[in-house]
Amino acid sequence: MLMFIIQQRKRLLTMAMAWLCNTVLVAQPAEVTAIINADQGKQQISKHIYGHFSEHLGRCIYGGFYVGTDNTKIPHVDGVRKDVIAALKHMKIPNLRWPGGCFADTYHWKDGIGPRSERPTLVNRWWGGVIEDNSFGTHDFLNLCEELGTEPYLAANVATGTVQEFIDWIQYTTHESQSPMAELRKKNGREKPWKVKYWGIGNEAWGCGGNMTPEYYANIYKQFATFMDGKEFYRIASGANVADYHWTEVLMRDIPKNLVEGVALHHYSVIDWNNKGSATEFSEEDYMTTMQRALRMDELVTRHATIMDKYDPQKKVGLIVDEWGGWYNVEPGTNPGFLYQQNTMRDAMIAGVTLNIFNNHSDRVRMANLAQTINVLQAVILTDEEKMLLTPTYHVLTMYNVHQDATWLPVNYNNVDYTYKDKKVPAISISASKDATGAIHVSLVNIDYAKKHSVNVDLRGYDFKKVTGTILSSAKAQDHNTFDNPEKIKQKEFKGFKASKSGVLVDLPPFSVVVLEIK
Ligand code: AHR
Repeated sequence: MLMFIIQQRKRLLTMAMAWLCNTVLVAQPAEVTAIINADQGKQQISKHIYGHFSEHLGRCIYGGFYVGTDNTKIPHVDGVRKDVIAALKHMKIPNLRWPGGCFADTYHWKDGIGPRSERPTLVNRWWGGVIEDNSFGTHDFLNLCEELGTEPYLAANVATGTVQEFIDWIQYTTHESQSPMAELRKKNGREKPWKVKYWGIGNEAWGCGGNMTPEYYANIYKQFATFMDGKEFYRIASGANVADYHWTEVLMRDIPKNLVEGVALHHYSVIDWNNKGSATEFSEEDYMTTMQRALRMDELVTRHATIMDKYDPQKKVGLIVDEWGGWYNVEPGTNPGFLYQQNTMRDAMIAGVTLNIFNNHSDRVRMANLAQTINVLQAVILTDEEKMLLTPTYHVLTMYNVHQDATWLPVNYNNVDYTYKDKKVPAISISASKDATGAIHVSLVNIDYAKKHSVNVDLRGYDFKKVTGTILSSAKAQDHNTFDNPEKIKQKEFKGFKASKSGVLVDLPPFSVVVLEIK
């Protein structure tokens, strides 16, 4: 009898303990509270923040987009891979920058029109010294953009080109009625002009685009921009390298506002330019450094925007981050000049936090271009002959496309640290928007290498009935898709959330990206 009473007491005690634990667990506050005032929508997040970049570099154009009109092995439309077209359409690619990069300042567009057999060749001096046969030219690129339903962003040759060559390109591509260049276009098989709104005037004028001073470039820029109407075109000045604030200051000071619509900025997440490390075999220390570099984008955008505010308080001129992404050593055995690298969950983190930064600065950041679309740097697609795979970065861009042209919602949140030895960075990154149907999307990233974190999304001013989500995660930060296992990492339905008193309680696994849809 005594034994029975003792056992009974033990059972009751255990049950009480379990209840207490559960209660405590349920009542435990989330580490991060994110307050979203759904009725305080501000500016639109331009879809162009989700833009891409395709240079005549390595296998981005040749083998990536373009496999030749005579190719019988790989299905194509006028030489452009069908699988690539389908994937980019699905991702909702809003714009595509071409033909460079550094290549742009060596490119003479007239060499890439007319019968292919008559096109001159050139040495691609920046990228492996290979022979460029000009078989992919203006028609191919602009037709591709039409096929994709994306806006072209042409980068004009300033360093080795002329103003006349530039004006001719504008006339050739966009002139409706009779003119020498429109006639030449028609002779080459294209009756109607294309729609080309976005024009970059040079690229990295401080480096491969001519090693100019900002004062000198500002003068050259004005000379080129004078021959374009700002009502019809969006003119983008070659912008600063990373934290070169003087460059932005001079451009904003010296270029009259009626001659410029956008000023560019380039920033790559590189561990060390002399020792960039492997794309797939990296330590936690490398991972932390890459995250520090990626998160620096927030400071860069803030500081460049502050300078722009001084000269353009009405925020008419856009900050155009037309090159960003991770940069590592090339894959072993590949041409060092081709910049071919794999893409892991670490790259998904770069994409997730960077796009959140751009969303949260969308009052000034009007366009951005991930470098580069296929087979180069932080690519969304990799190809190997007839095989193609979608990288973790592709999935982030696809998950985030719900923010395109949606109304940005301010998110106020505390943070938790991700620490490694003596280094620390904020672990959580969040942005939110409301789309035209009234649905709210919240993108959350946990960059912590080892720990999951909880976030309470406290939604105010909005009655919701349904929450769904998608997640991108994997067992190891080094995980990536290969041609043998192309779907190791892909978006999945997210179930790690539950309704809380004031919104949605979310559990974010280490190095994961989640997008919630709340309606
Ligand atoms: O994206 C690769 C190169 O990086 C581009 O050509 C150049 O603009 C930048 O330095």
